[in-house]
Amino acid sequence: MDAITADLEIIIVIAKEFEHPFVQDANILKQAGFSGEHESICLLHEKGRLYVGSESIKSKDIRAAAAVAIRTLKGTQYESVKIANYASHPKCTAVFRAMVEGVLLGAYHFDNYKSKKSEHKLRSVTLSLQEYHGYELEPESFEQALNRAKIGANATNYTRDIVNTPPDDCYPEVMANLALDLAKKYELECTILKSKEIKKENMNALLAVARASRHKPRVIHLAYKPENPKAVISIVGKGLTYDSGGLSLKSADYMVTMKADKSGGSAVLGILKAVAQMKLPVEVHGFIGAVENMIGGDAYKPDDVLVAKNGKTIEVRNTDAEGRLVLADLLCYAQQEVTSDYLFDMATLTGACVVGVGNYTSGVMGNDPMPTKMVLDAGAGISGEMVTKLDFNHYLRKTLKSDIADISNVSNTRYGGAISAGMFLAEFIDEAHKEKWAHIDIAGPAYVEHTWGENPSGASGAGVRLMLRLLEKVSRREDHQQ
Ligand code: BES
Ligand code: ZN
Ligand code: ZN
Repeated sequence: MDAITADLEIIIVIAKEFEHPFVQDANILKQAGFSGEHESICLLHEKGRLYVGSESIKSKDIRAAAAVAIRTLKGTQYESVKIANYASHPKCTAVFRAMVEGVLLGAYHFDNYKSKKSEHKLRSVTLSLQEYHGYELEPESFEQALNRAKIGANATNYTRDIVNTPPDDCYPEVMANLALDLAKKYELECTILKSKEIKKENMNALLAVARASRHKPRVIHLAYKPENPKAVISIVGKGLTYDSGGLSLKSADYMVTMKADKSGGSAVLGILKAVAQMKLPVEVHGFIGAVENMIGGDAYKPDDVLVAKNGKTIEVRNTDAEGRLVLADLLCYAQQEVTSDYLFDMATLTGACVVGVGNYTSGVMGNDPMPTKMVLDAGAGISGEMVTKLDFNHYLRKTLKSDIADISNVSNTRYGGAISAGMFLAEFIDEAHKEKWAHIDIAGPAYVEHTWGENPSGASGAGVRLMLRLLEKVSRREDHQQ
């Protein structure tokens, strides 16, 4: 470690080990009131050391600590830093990977719309494989970890950029162009459906939501098809480039941030980019319903009855429950185009999910425990994204009954809205995919107006690292041979 020259060394201190004798500068740190508390920092400029606290040695905490350290250096003159590795096992690359991700995710800022750009003087970050426990580490596995960490973090930042872009600069056509750009740059196939083709596909629910906007809708299908894939996975994303609520107009306070209603679709773009870069042996299909929900003389209305792509009729009782209408048609389209081993959808679907599980956690649900478990397993433990399970039940399904159509687009009770929204989507899953589908409500973590852990204020890129870890896991499996 001493052989590496840098302006500053970042030292991560585990809170409960603060009293441990190997913590250098313990007395000065104590005097400064630093005790290794999670995400707290103490800069000892003269010593060239930046201390940062972490709750534990777990990768989720280390990732956040590394991000906090890098964020602290914004606005300083330091140009280079070094960090030592913390492994719990010679083959364990998890902490190393988390550290790389933390650095890249923590350095992210969105200043495309600032006249004066914020400047990060930091030019180099050196991660040493020297290790406190003295393990002999394998360079190859660390090289792969470094590569995947960089690809995943950069894809997350790419998704953050899309979500943070204002609605009049990122509308459906722009999202379609982003997909076409990705297809040109990487080995991806891309199909874009415009209004005429969408109509031909009988996606009338999606079209109804889109009708009042001057920005015409797009259905995007991006596909990554490696040879001999271990599995075929489809990921469907809600891409509401703006959700005003439509005629069931949102109030002023609730409308701000609704540029982030395209987070699910934006995550799909990031995932496909990363999967192609990682060259994972899994076939991945991304579907995005890019639509703007607006008001006007042409707007769809509460009381309308829509006929979805699969022929089911939907009574519209609230035009602000538009995401499920878009997804209903898009899920049908995705299943028609591809028979998948697993089908996931990601959406900022309900405020109820945020109320239920908080701002920082996604909700996952489905008919069968398997795909749900895959998402839970890819959660905090390895990707750092927090996900919790929500269970379907027959009583909430009944609250979606309509007197005049097959189903209502809103529940008749004010409770359990995240689950009833999921159960609405379940009506558009066919027999072949029933046990293969899970819905992920990312309404909480997709966009938060303050920094938290490795996430900046604004878009977090929720869903990208989560699904990448899930896909990486599937790519290592033997039991999914086609
Ligand atoms: N896009 C919103 C959900 C949302 C809310 C996302 C807050 C992120 C933060 C969705 O389209 C919506 O408006 N849902 C309604 C459903 C209701 C009318 C049944 C909601 O959650 O209030
Ligand atoms: Zn809405
Ligand atoms: Zn919405």
